Amino acid sequence: MISVLFVCTGNICRSPTAEGVFRHLVEDAGLEDEFKIASSGTESYHVGDPPDARSLRMAAKYGVSLQGQKARHLSAGDYAEFDYIFAMDSGHFSILHARAPKNARAKIAMFLESGDVPDPWYGAEPDFEHVYALVRKRCEELLMTIRKAHKI
Ligand code: 4NP
Repeated sequence: MISVLFVCTGNICRSPTAEGVFRHLVEDAGLEDEFKIASSGTESYHVGDPPDARSLRMAAKYGVSLQGQKARHLSAGDYAEFDYIFAMDSGHFSILHARAPKNARAKIAMFLESGDVPDPWYGAEPDFEHVYALVRKRCEELLMTIRKAHKI
């Protein structure tokens, strides 16, 4: 089982989109039994909330369901539970390192190799469109990279 966690600030926009898109791609590839996929937020403001309606709509427009997701707060246990933790921006990357417990097992990496997925929270439709496009493209690459690394 390969476990993958996506982390953003509120766990209602960027990381739920990444979780939903990655799961969609994994299911398309028939690999759902090989993966555990989740997301969480560095802040607890939205714990228990469903993804932002704008993220839900944007994903649905491209055939991806975010239904059933509920915002979680990043926990110490996440570092032991997951193989890979992907930070949606450099702020999350710093926080992930700063909060890492001694027994951390996860490999922490930036989600994009080229920089941040911009925070769409104060934005509008085009910002959510941009986030979706970045997430979609990178999730496709990540799945290929992880499949190669794990020979599946
Ligand atoms: P996310 O977006 O980190 O992509 O889920 C945000 C959602 C909420 C807040 C910030 C970013 N907030 O400050 O409440």
